[in-house]
Amino acid sequence: MRDRLRGGALYRPATVGPAGLGFSAGRLIAVSRTRDAWRDRYAAFTARKTQLAASAALPPYVTAFDAPDPDLLAIGNDWSRALFDGPFYVSPPRDPARPACSLVFVQSADGNTGADDPGTLGGGDTDKHLIYEGLSRIAADAVLAGAETVRGAEVIFSVWHPQLVALRAAMGLPRHPLQIVATMRGLVVDDVLLLNVPEVDAVVLTIASGMRLMEGALRERPWVRPVVMDAADHLGRAFDLLRGMGTTRLSCVGGRSLAAHLLAADLVDDVYLTTAPQTGGTPGTPLFQRPWNGRAIVRKYGTGADTDVVFEHLVRGTHQRPA
Ligand SMILES: NC(=O)c1ccc[n+]([C@@H]2O[C@H](COP(=O)([O-])OP(=O)(O)OC[C@H]3O[C@@H](n4cnc5c(N)ncnc54)[C@H](OP(=O)(O)O)[C@@H]3O)[C@@H](O)[C@H]2O)c1
Repeated sequence: MRDRLRGGALYRPATVGPAGLGFSAGRLIAVSRTRDAWRDRYAAFTARKTQLAASAALPPYVTAFDAPDPDLLAIGNDWSRALFDGPFYVSPPRDPARPACSLVFVQSADGNTGADDPGTLGGGDTDKHLIYEGLSRIAADAVLAGAETVRGAEVIFSVWHPQLVALRAAMGLPRHPLQIVATMRGLVVDDVLLLNVPEVDAVVLTIASGMRLMEGALRERPWVRPVVMDAADHLGRAFDLLRGMGTTRLSCVGGRSLAAHLLAADLVDDVYLTTAPQTGGTPGTPLFQRPWNGRAIVRKYGTGADTDVVFEHLVRGTHQRPA
């Protein structure tokens, strides 16, 4: 039985899974059919993502500058270094009790991040397949998303290009990062692919009222663990709990509301920001809603179809955690 995390303390649910819930035979058959349907959707989803990644034409980036701090870790293989024009960097955890955390965003030329499909903002295929669904999460134990980024979207946050899958395996990491969804109001669990695939571990990061709404659905899905905060601004404590669950490195894929909470709580170490050449997106949706004490250590430019795309790696201004 998995441990469940609540209010900072570990607790074990009285029963986990259909067998422990006294379901009728008819209900068990219905649950089993539903699981088969999700497995089929998952198989189709992974086949589609793999095919898209493997067949995408990826124009390489060229480096404008590359000036990492000495403590940054360089990752990559020959394939990624050729496309990215060098190594990709990740910060080590500042505090052994908390995961290192990065944000990965694409913005329009006028700084908007909101879009039903962020791919339409114009970051290009190299950003999508090499950075977003690649290097930014290749070393991550977990990917974190806000509920609005997940609702209505068929997503599993992972790496898909065969070269990146091989690189992640060579790092000794599981095929898919832990999928974490943050929600205060709660999710309709039955609607969310990434909470319905038993081989993909997941966490819902929520508060007590959200947990109450999801409790029944989660009891039927023992691979989804709740982390229940006392309040939505207790993300630091939630990070401590996630570290206790084995998450050393976490990639937050947005959106900007969740990112704002992480930035305000000083939990962000790296920002991977791609700027498209064209204006667009939902007006008034910048990533940084307040100034952030970050500085660029890497800048790259796109080539070919991605000409005028700009990629920047920003790191937190100081590596000292405030007392
Ligand atoms: N440009 C990009 O790179 C990029 C990246 C990601 C998303 N997007 C786009 O951005 C839009 C969504 O962004 P968004 O800012 O509106 O939403 P979001 O950050 O994806 O989700 C916000 C929701 O997350 C939950 N949440 C936020 N902070 C939380 C906290 N501290 N604790 C627990 N739950 C918390 C709440 O869920 P509940 O509502 O359930 O309470 C909140 O309403 C979409 O258009 C998406 O496509 C763009």
